[in-house]
Amino acid sequence: MRILTGSDHGGLSLKKLLVERLRAQGHEVVDVGTDTTTSCDYPDFAVPVARGVAAGEADFGLLVCGTGQGMAMTANRVPGVRAAVVGDTFTAKATRQHNDANVLCLGERVVGPGLAAEILDQFLATAFEGGRHIGRIAKIARVQGA
Ligand code: RB5
Repeated sequence: MRILTGSDHGGLSLKKLLVERLRAQGHEVVDVGTDTTTSCDYPDFAVPVARGVAAGEADFGLLVCGTGQGMAMTANRVPGVRAAVVGDTFTAKATRQHNDANVLCLGERVVGPGLAAEILDQFLATAFEGGRHIGRIAKIARVQGA
């Protein structure tokens, strides 16, 4: 898969670990930054990842900040994006099956690296169920103006 990633300073360490892991698994990863621990603003990384996913330039987006919240709030403003903050593997699976989430947001200050890796694996391995969920996500798109 092709995955777009981004983080602010608060998510840099976890993002680096996950990017390394994704590449070792054979995925193509494009990282929009940040590359340093200097304090920066999460929207500057959430927007290019979200726009890239919405434009079909990647299968999924992965955004990491301190909590995942600011990344998700920003990414969900982009029409066509369904970004989910996830802190457990049940939700990682359910948000793919039911919400067709296309951007995974993680909080480095919330989940440890082991759990984050399992969440990411589960997210990428789970397909959208379609069916009754199609109309529901279409309603999200309408609110976004997609
Ligand atoms: C940065 O201190 C922190 O606010 C940011 O990483 C994120 O948690 C925001 O949602």
